[in-house]
Amino acid sequence: MKAWIFRRYGGPEVLEWAELPDPVPGKGEMVVRVVAAALNPLDWKLREGHFRWMTTGRLPRGVGYDYAGVVEAAGEGVTRLKPGDAVVGIVNPMAARNGTMAERVCATEALATAKPASLSFADAAALPGAGITAVQGLRDAGLAAGQRVLVVGAAGGVGSFAVQLAKDAGAHVTAVASAAGQAFLSTLAPDRGIDRDRENWKALDERFDVVFDTSGTSTFGECRALLAPAGAYVNTLPGAALYLWSWWLRLASRQRCVPVMERPNRADLETLVRLATSGRLQSAVTRTGRFDEVPDLEREMAAGHNQGKIVVRFAPDP
Ligand SMILES: NC(=O)c1ccc[n+]([C@@H]2O[C@H](COP(=O)([O-])OP(=O)(O)OC[C@H]3O[C@@H](n4cnc5c(N)ncnc54)[C@H](OP(=O)(O)O)[C@@H]3O)[C@@H](O)[C@H]2O)c1
Repeated sequence: MKAWIFRRYGGPEVLEWAELPDPVPGKGEMVVRVVAAALNPLDWKLREGHFRWMTTGRLPRGVGYDYAGVVEAAGEGVTRLKPGDAVVGIVNPMAARNGTMAERVCATEALATAKPASLSFADAAALPGAGITAVQGLRDAGLAAGQRVLVVGAAGGVGSFAVQLAKDAGAHVTAVASAAGQAFLSTLAPDRGIDRDRENWKALDERFDVVFDTSGTSTFGECRALLAPAGAYVNTLPGAALYLWSWWLRLASRQRCVPVMERPNRADLETLVRLATSGRLQSAVTRTGRFDEVPDLEREMAAGHNQGKIVVRFAPDP
């Protein structure tokens, strides 16, 4: 089978569409024929070696971790899903050498769920990584109906889910994106959109129960004045300072700092699939690429102004 892999860290030029042996499912694993896989910024960060301390000695490795496809083979102990089932899932991006930007992927059943027929493979593939991050960020912030939420990077992958999930939970959502992101942002129907090229959102004279920065371009100190007395600041690019703040605030304040570290799990994925299937979560897919476009698409995503989710097709819908 063919798969995108890299044998050394570097730019998109290290990506190789390589012939690999067909995967064999181990205990609790399935081989899935990939129909669609979604891009995430972690793909290019792993390829550039940003997390090499977590992946040392683990090259070559595959690319991508979100997928939707059809189960071809099930290993020992796989009980819920079976060959022929349409599925959506995630492979653990830190642990797996096996990527989803491939014709086939070996994936654990524990991080996969059945894909309802009414949900397209492309829309399903877009859900796991960014969607689970948004679910967990809002939950860890303690989001409740009626709260005021500010989402920064709202037109991006995580942001577009965060806006929709917060709205669905009954929050009042203010969403920040660049001028280029405004058209897509308006399709997500936030209560208010802010064009960050025209307005400095950090200087807003308002208080929010949750400030969710998916862009990693703010600090807690810069956002503290935007928080309600018991408000939570959420950041998907947590550094040491954010962890220190989160510990200190537990002792000294009702305000909270929430460093997000996505925990891939099936329960959150199933929540997303349920919301998407019932129409409460609209498609975040803004672009569907061909398999041979992966290096160019990663280059675009690394530029940092992505909108919604980019999905790559590896097979036609069955
Ligand atoms: N910690 C975790 O577990 C975890 C999980 C998932 C993602 N992440 C990280 O979270 C980040 C977002 O992920 P994603 O999938 O949403 O990425 P994405 O789809 O590339 O979206 C990033 C968004 O940030 C916005 N942005 C760029 N520069 C900005 C600035 N200076 N101020 C405000 N917004 C800015 C961009 O929109 P505009 O330029 O149009 O405003 C873009 O839409 C990535 O760095 C990713 O690696 C972390």
